[in-house]
Amino acid sequence: MLMKWIVQLSKQVKPTMSEAAVTTNEEAPRWSRLFDNIDREHGFESLRVEGHLPQDLIGTIYRNGPGVFTRGGVRIAHLFDGDGAIAATRFSHAEAEGAVRFVQTRAREREERKQRWLYGGYKQSFQRPIREVLLGRSKNPANTGVLLHQGKLFALCEAGKPIELHPDELSTLGEEDFGGVIQTFNAHPKRVVSRAATYSIGVRLGRTHQIDILEVPDFGCARRLATLPAGTVGMVHDFAVTERHLILFIPPQRVKLLSMLLRNRGLVDAIDWDQSAGTEIVTISLDAPDQVRRFRTESFYMEHVANAYEEKDGEIVIDFTRYENLATFENLVQPLVHLRVGAPLSMSLSRMRLAASCKSATFETLLGESCELPHTANAHRGKRHNVTYLAGQPDSERPYDAFTSTLKIDHLHNRVERFFHGKDTAGGEPIFVPRPNAKDEDDGYLLVPVFDPKTGSSHEAIFDARRVSDGPIARAHHSQPIPPRFHGAWLEPV
Ligand SMILES: [Fe+2]
Repeated sequence: MLMKWIVQLSKQVKPTMSEAAVTTNEEAPRWSRLFDNIDREHGFESLRVEGHLPQDLIGTIYRNGPGVFTRGGVRIAHLFDGDGAIAATRFSHAEAEGAVRFVQTRAREREERKQRWLYGGYKQSFQRPIREVLLGRSKNPANTGVLLHQGKLFALCEAGKPIELHPDELSTLGEEDFGGVIQTFNAHPKRVVSRAATYSIGVRLGRTHQIDILEVPDFGCARRLATLPAGTVGMVHDFAVTERHLILFIPPQRVKLLSMLLRNRGLVDAIDWDQSAGTEIVTISLDAPDQVRRFRTESFYMEHVANAYEEKDGEIVIDFTRYENLATFENLVQPLVHLRVGAPLSMSLSRMRLAASCKSATFETLLGESCELPHTANAHRGKRHNVTYLAGQPDSERPYDAFTSTLKIDHLHNRVERFFHGKDTAGGEPIFVPRPNAKDEDDGYLLVPVFDPKTGSSHEAIFDARRVSDGPIARAHHSQPIPPRFHGAWLEPV
């Protein structure tokens, strides 16, 4: 009887994510090599440099993203489920070195040994759902972001423990829970200079989901500032932080745990979106974390925060990439791993003004063309910024292209600079590196990872951040294509 009920119930669960918008290319796109498994792991080795690297660019950029897409002849279900690999580019004395290594988790070692996908994930279905979903014996893909803390390097995923790597060897050292404080740590930690601390969130799925608010000070012990009930929320990929508050955007979605268990679905296919419910804005005081204010506004999905800051009257300003709903985002990214293109890019860079009461908000569009992976200078994190860098696709006649351009928005003068990397290129997250003793917010270099089908490999493009539209002043060429990197971080030598 119980089995009959379970079978009936599982038949009632409908697919949640539209696949109707997917368009199949007649032939593999020229960026298809980006979704090959990483061919060769290696430590730091000299890179070919085109142009002139500046003498005062000294340090290492670490970028994280998936590096395996096919295992045992089986293609992975989603870009977000590939095993994480760190690609690093090191600069000194106007020369560059590059390294690429996988994050060697226990799950990856087991899957490599058996040459099979064994774990569920974001879209990958669960073979042992009760053990993985309910008991937490899941795979940490370690494939999304990077944390640099006290000179240590960590690979991060959507919801798992940070995994420490040796910053010179890129060898894997093991999981870190910061003294037992951290159960999960998201992939977008943000350091606020004036607070000498890094903030993050940890989303924990369960019968009722919870979000931990986490503080990792520059020195001293990590703290869990608060734990908030989050209803049945599924994806909270990023958050905003100012010098006084942390702000969550909780989208109107519901994870159907039963669907994950009975239908062996990955997380994203067990999410329902309720457009009428509204996105919940949750504001937490960093100095008094028990002061939490929540309200619902219009429904939208936030993927990435560029920065947030507070005006003198207490109004909070948050710049972020905005989608109509989760399906708008997923219809774009899900087909990529199968070398197909989905819906045209359709996000915008938006600004939310959150009233000092934290009970109402207004919205405006800062950039209405396709853009993602926003970045602002780290020194301005949590306080007013006047410059935002993005990956962009401003060519409306080729809406299905990857990010072929790098953008810079000067908010003070309402000006947008663009640089087009070339037809069929794929650019990634721009990261700003200040010059020593920099005077202005954009006085420094902008580093952008780019795949170029003309060379068949990837390179790190180095711009003078004051003149992005002039194009790179140098390119450091890796010896192979490096699959899409999601997020990275810059480490200066001590
Ligand atoms: Fe992200």
